[in-house]
Amino acid sequence: MRLTIGVDIGGTKVAAGVVDPDGRILTKVKHPTPANDSSAIADVVCDAIEELMATHPDDTFAGVGVGTAGFVDEGRSVVVFAPNLAWRNEPLKERIQRRIDLPVVIENDANAAAWGEARFGAGRDTGNVVCVTLGTGIGGGVVLDGRLYRGRYGIAAEIGHYRIVPNGRRCGCGNHGCWEQYASGRALVAEAQDLARTEPRRAERLLKLADGDVARIQGPEITQAALEGDGAALECFRIVGHWVGLGLADMAAILDPECFVIGGGVSEAGEILLEPVRAAFARSVTGRVTRRLAEIRTAELGAEAGLVGAADLVER
Ligand code: BGC
Ligand code: NA
Ligand code: ZN
Repeated sequence: MRLTIGVDIGGTKVAAGVVDPDGRILTKVKHPTPANDSSAIADVVCDAIEELMATHPDDTFAGVGVGTAGFVDEGRSVVVFAPNLAWRNEPLKERIQRRIDLPVVIENDANAAAWGEARFGAGRDTGNVVCVTLGTGIGGGVVLDGRLYRGRYGIAAEIGHYRIVPNGRRCGCGNHGCWEQYASGRALVAEAQDLARTEPRRAERLLKLADGDVARIQGPEITQAALEGDGAALECFRIVGHWVGLGLADMAAILDPECFVIGGGVSEAGEILLEPVRAAFARSVTGRVTRRLAEIRTAELGAEAGLVGAADLVER
C-alpha cells in the first residue's frame, strides 16, 4: 500500500497523520504550534513526521505533504507571503528536508483542504468545486474539471483577499476591504464582542458563556449560544453569513462551480450559517432568475480536510 504523510500547520496546533490511498488517516499526532518562529515550527513538523515514521517501521512512504496558511510558490516549497503570520519568503520545504529524507511538498492550507473535500468529502461527486474555509482568515481552493487550480505562480484562489468593500476595513495583507475582514471567524468574533460591549443586556448569554469577559467571547461560545437559539449569537451569524453569500455570488460570476463547500471553524454552526449564506447568494448572484445556482454545502472532513488533502497532493 502506498502511504503518505499529511501535515497541517494551524495557528494553535500542528497535526500530522499517516494517510492511505483512500484518504483514511491510519495514525495521527498533534503538537502545539510554536509562536511565529518559523524554524521552531519546522522543527515541530519534523518531530511529528519522525514520530509517525517510527510507528510504521515496516511501511514505506511516498512523501510528505504540508499544508500551511500563506502564498506558496509554484515550486511548492517557499511560503512567499503570509498575511496573518510573520512569514516572508520562508523556505519551509528546505528546512524540513534538512531532517527528513522523503520528498516534501508544501501546499497552501486551503488548497489542501479543498482537495481533501473534493476527493473524499463534500465535493467528491463533482469535479467543479470551490472550497471556502472560514477560520481566522478566509482560505480558498478551486478545483476545476477535477484538477486543483494553482495559477501561474502558485497563489491562485487567495479569495480571502478579494476586495469586497472598496476602502473598507484594514487587512493583515496591507490592503483594505478584503473579504476575510467581513466573513471570517475573526469577523464573527468581532461582531459578537462589539455587540457585547455596546448592548450587554442583549448579549447576556454570550457574556455568561465567557464568564463575563468580552475578550473571552470566541467562536465556540458564539456557536454554542447560536445552537441554543440565542438571538444575539444568531444575529452575528446572519451578518457574517450575509457577507459570505455576497462573496460567493461574485465567485460564481467568475468560476461557475457546481458547488461551494464551506469549511473551517465557523462552518461548525451548519445550517445556522448556511441559511443566511444561501439567502444572500440567491439574492445577489448574477443571472439569478434563470441560471442554475451552485449548491452550497458544509464541509464533511472537518478539521482533517487539510491533512488528508495535503497527503493526497504529494504526487499530483
Ligand atoms: C491567507 C491564505 C490562507 C487563509 C486561511 C489567508 O489570510 O492569505 O493563504 O489560506 O488565510 O488560512
Ligand atoms: Na488557496
Ligand atoms: Zn487582505
